Amino acid sequence: MLQKPKGTYDVYGSYGIKILYLENLLHALMEKYHYEYVRTPIFEASELFHRGVGETTDIVSKETYDFVDRGDRNMTLRPEGTAGVVRSYIENKMYGNPSQPVKTWYIGPMYRYERPQSGRFREFYQFGVEVFGSEDPMIDAEVISIPVNFYRMLGLKEIKVNINSLGDQESRNAYRAALLEHFKPHLDALCEDCKTRYLKNPLRILDCKVDHDLECMKNAPKISDYLNETSRHHFEKVQHYLDALNIPYQVNPNVVRGLDYYTHTVFEVEANVQGFGSQNVLCGGGRYNHLVENIGGPSTPGVGFALGFERLLTALEFEQIELEKEHLDLYVIPMEEAVKSYAFALTQDLRMNGFSVDMDYMNRNLKGNFKQADRLNASYVIIIGTTEMENDILTIKNNQTQEEYKVKHEELISFLDEHIEEEHNE
Ligand code: HAM
Repeated sequence: MLQKPKGTYDVYGSYGIKILYLENLLHALMEKYHYEYVRTPIFEASELFHRGVGETTDIVSKETYDFVDRGDRNMTLRPEGTAGVVRSYIENKMYGNPSQPVKTWYIGPMYRYERPQSGRFREFYQFGVEVFGSEDPMIDAEVISIPVNFYRMLGLKEIKVNINSLGDQESRNAYRAALLEHFKPHLDALCEDCKTRYLKNPLRILDCKVDHDLECMKNAPKISDYLNETSRHHFEKVQHYLDALNIPYQVNPNVVRGLDYYTHTVFEVEANVQGFGSQNVLCGGGRYNHLVENIGGPSTPGVGFALGFERLLTALEFEQIELEKEHLDLYVIPMEEAVKSYAFALTQDLRMNGFSVDMDYMNRNLKGNFKQADRLNASYVIIIGTTEMENDILTIKNNQTQEEYKVKHEELISFLDEHIEEEHNE
């Protein structure tokens, strides 16, 4: 039997209901924050990710899905959303938009050739935001507030917000020099990858999964000791604005992130529940003030984050939070062959009037149909026999209270408006 590729999964049944519910919630949240929707291709020129995410990151050096297309172009399935949105920002000249900053959001699949395990897939879904054009630390705090508010809306309690600053270019250069000096005597102990990282980008040594437990990793210099005045000031302001929003956080110098483009603020929100497993980072992001320029656009500051749906669903399960259950306003039961087209047309009509409606397509008996109505969690059931059809009077049953009503066909919509409106408000 053909099977799905390793590290991927199918969405169906109750999982589909949950995913759509979360997506709708995010959609509504983004309207409130006044961010605009963007969608970029799932594949891009490989060069974009080399320049954007960074040559020495694990994501680009080990995990991309690369292919040569039929026109001999090197293409890559996007491992993350930021680089593509930045490319689109430049290509569509959004920097010329009179209304600044440009605040965008996106949802879609991302691809990384990682070793699959709980919370880590090869195809996974991200929701993310990218904001361009403002250097104000208030925007950093706003971006951090989005996942925090979203998790709060869902009722998640066991979460921890970790923030750090990687500083500006000057601070980064000073830190880089300190790292080179620190790791020099330990080079022999480091893995082959880290030896390359030492030459190309020593900051990447800090998130090595192989050398993680070495002593020289634990006592490596911290970026916080190398922040210059401007960087320190920016970071203090971010904290000030987070305090203003009542968002609890911890300054954690170990948050360095696995992508190269960050400057100043970086953050991660983790699930803080015992037994969650090692993939407990629910979302992450930060500021990237040189990325637009590196990809060929005008110098423009940016800040964003992305959250993974799979880990979010696991966190909801861990905290036993139930999302939307399947629900149906009405289930229509035709009692015999002669009334089927009448029932079918009524079903369509009710759908066009704004109700969620399903009917029997399996010629079940009455008992079987009531079971089906329960399975679908229907609020009301409409039973149609020849008498109902001939008199144009319908029998409607409240599927919870079992109360029964006789309603004239022409009064049906106003009856349902009243009764189902009540249900929706409960
Ligand atoms: P990232 O930390 O690589 O950042 O990914 C963000 C989130 O995507 C993670 O916190 C996690 O929830 C989820 N995720 C990542 N890899 C996997 C995987 N293999 N399986 C399941 N979930 C995964 C970025 O991607 C940046 N583009 C975020 C950003 C936006 N920074 C600025 N703007």
